[in-house]
Amino acid sequence: MHEGLQKELQTYEKRTPKSAEAHRRALNRLPLGVASNYRAYDPYPIFVRDGQGGHLRDVDGNDYADFNLSFGALMAGHCHPAVMRAVSERLQKGTMFGMPHDMEWALAEEICSRFPVEMVRFSSSGTEATMHSVRLARAATGCDRIIKMEGGYHGLHDTALVSVKPKLEQCGDPAMPNQVPGGAGVTNATLQNTLIAQFNDLDGVERLFRIYPGEIAAVIVEPIMMNVGICMPQPGYHKGLRELCTKHGALFIFDEVKTGAKLAWGGACEYFGVKPDIVCLAKSIGGGFPLAAFGASREVMHLIADHKVFHGGTYNTNPVSMAAGLAMFREVLTRDAYKHVNHLNEKLVEGYKKTVEKTGLSAYVIGAGANGALMFRSKEIRSYRDWLEVDTELWRHYWFGMANRGVLAQPYWWDEQWTVSVAHTEADIDQHLTAFAELAPQLATAQKVGAATR
Ligand SMILES: Cc1ncc(COP(=O)(O)O)c(C=O)c1O
Repeated sequence: MHEGLQKELQTYEKRTPKSAEAHRRALNRLPLGVASNYRAYDPYPIFVRDGQGGHLRDVDGNDYADFNLSFGALMAGHCHPAVMRAVSERLQKGTMFGMPHDMEWALAEEICSRFPVEMVRFSSSGTEATMHSVRLARAATGCDRIIKMEGGYHGLHDTALVSVKPKLEQCGDPAMPNQVPGGAGVTNATLQNTLIAQFNDLDGVERLFRIYPGEIAAVIVEPIMMNVGICMPQPGYHKGLRELCTKHGALFIFDEVKTGAKLAWGGACEYFGVKPDIVCLAKSIGGGFPLAAFGASREVMHLIADHKVFHGGTYNTNPVSMAAGLAMFREVLTRDAYKHVNHLNEKLVEGYKKTVEKTGLSAYVIGAGANGALMFRSKEIRSYRDWLEVDTELWRHYWFGMANRGVLAQPYWWDEQWTVSVAHTEADIDQHLTAFAELAPQLATAQKVGAATR
């Protein structure tokens, strides 16, 4: 471990003793001391106390400008007044009935007005949205296999938990990547049915359609791969996927769990001008409450109405989440909000770029909509395998260095990206950029020393 990182870790441990203590306690009762594996990191994660707007406080009382925002699920920022008002009102009237109510139709209307879908069903998590979408596609086509991209993340159900973070030595032939289980417990039968292509490799997808003619139900893709920092689609990629799906009778699933609320008013469909067959939404549409949706044409969604595909869920459309969702679509995710967030994010990206250039850091900065990332690789990544070359030690130096300067620059883990929320201000962006400008020369030095000693 290089010296700069060691120093930042020492500072981190000095600033966060109560987090260390909370983690020690939790380890006894929760595997890894956390409720989701993504939240665990060494030496221990920051334990949070509360949040407001674009900031949060940890249990030691440290304040952070928050660009983690719950893994990008809080484009609203913490406690957005419109969401809080809608939820507070709803809390007085009953939180769950397991019965239909009018907000279901109202929110479905909102979604259909922004996304190219005609009917919608709701659930509580992104995992459910992609799981039901894949099942719909299988029912619509009568095929079992799907194609997903190496390094793509679509949640935790078995079909999606293939080749999420394979080691390079497991990946196999770049033209025909192996199907690598994302952990024990994923069945062999599942692996047979989840075929893998590299992101941005249309030939790879076409090859799979050729090898398995008439057997592929769907291609599922995250419009911008955001499980590897930020990996942009190359021009023509989505159009190519769309055409291949149409040609081979497969459904094209856009996993907009992250991009749906954060890329543009009409999500990635609007941003890239693409019409997929199924759209999955979650995270930021709920304003901090568990809410997800999937939508498609009437024809596809009628598989549910015709009792061919089963969809249910006790927590679906619970009125609290739905009240939050309606407030998000009607009051928070407005065209003006996108102008505000895009402006702040452009300022952040440009500021980072200037500092990277000034310090001679070998890294690049990339932004899209409300998201951005500092990527510790000299050339832009095009695929998961490119991302494997990111300098993770330097990234840790960056993350802890920023946290010690009062900025959660993004969620922990170098496969994530920052989110700018509607609650962030120019002052928050200035704070973020000032912290980075202070830290960056140390990162550049550590990088040079590292290169000289390798
Ligand atoms: C693109 C994408 N799809 C699906 C999911 C799963 O969503 P959830 O964690 O709500 O189940 C995530 C979560 O990070 C995601 O980023």
